[in-house]
Amino acid sequence: MSLRLGDVAPNFKASTSLGEIDFYEYLGNSWGVLFSHPADYTPVCTTELGKTATLKEEFAKRNVKVLALSVDAVQQHLGWIGDINETQNCTVDFPIIADENRKVSELYDFIHPNASATTTVRSLVIIGPDKTIKLIITYPASTGRNFVEVLRVIDSLQLTANYSVSTPADWKHGEEVIVGTTIKTEDALTKFPKGVKVVKPYLRYTPQPNLN
Ligand code: BEZ
Repeated sequence: MSLRLGDVAPNFKASTSLGEIDFYEYLGNSWGVLFSHPADYTPVCTTELGKTATLKEEFAKRNVKVLALSVDAVQQHLGWIGDINETQNCTVDFPIIADENRKVSELYDFIHPNASATTTVRSLVIIGPDKTIKLIITYPASTGRNFVEVLRVIDSLQLTANYSVSTPADWKHGEEVIVGTTIKTEDALTKFPKGVKVVKPYLRYTPQPNLN
């Protein structure tokens, strides 16, 4: 099944390194990151899962629950987690789905048969508290994902959800954001008391609203 932005993220039940989970129950009212890994005991995946573990506080600050997936079995995951903790100096304490029957991979379109018939590509899906899909990125197996970018997108998505702003090219936390096009300039001045800079009627900036 091909999923697109705005679609409802399908629910599923799965075996994981932390036991059986129901995806929606696991997410609760949090944001979610579901990301696929081609296989256990592979080098790039080892660094990605280690990086995710070390960013635990960053995800928690943003009310994000992470859930990894690989098509190997729980027993393999458990052995591999030992290696990840040892080599990446971390504690992996989020679940890794054991998607041996490819059920979740197929549901989320993580297998791209022309890249590999059996293992997943490196996809990452961000899901909002409303259970809709906010972002899908797909990398080849040979390229590790950029987790600074993952956190940056989460920050941008949460600013949009909470303040009706968007973020410009290469935006980073702390920089000016763009006033949403549906907001009239006279309303923007009230909504954004830190000020609105009008460059063009359609291009208006305001300081990041959730900072003091
Ligand atoms: C890796 O994680 O290093 C990897 C996995 C599958 C194919 C290529 C690289």
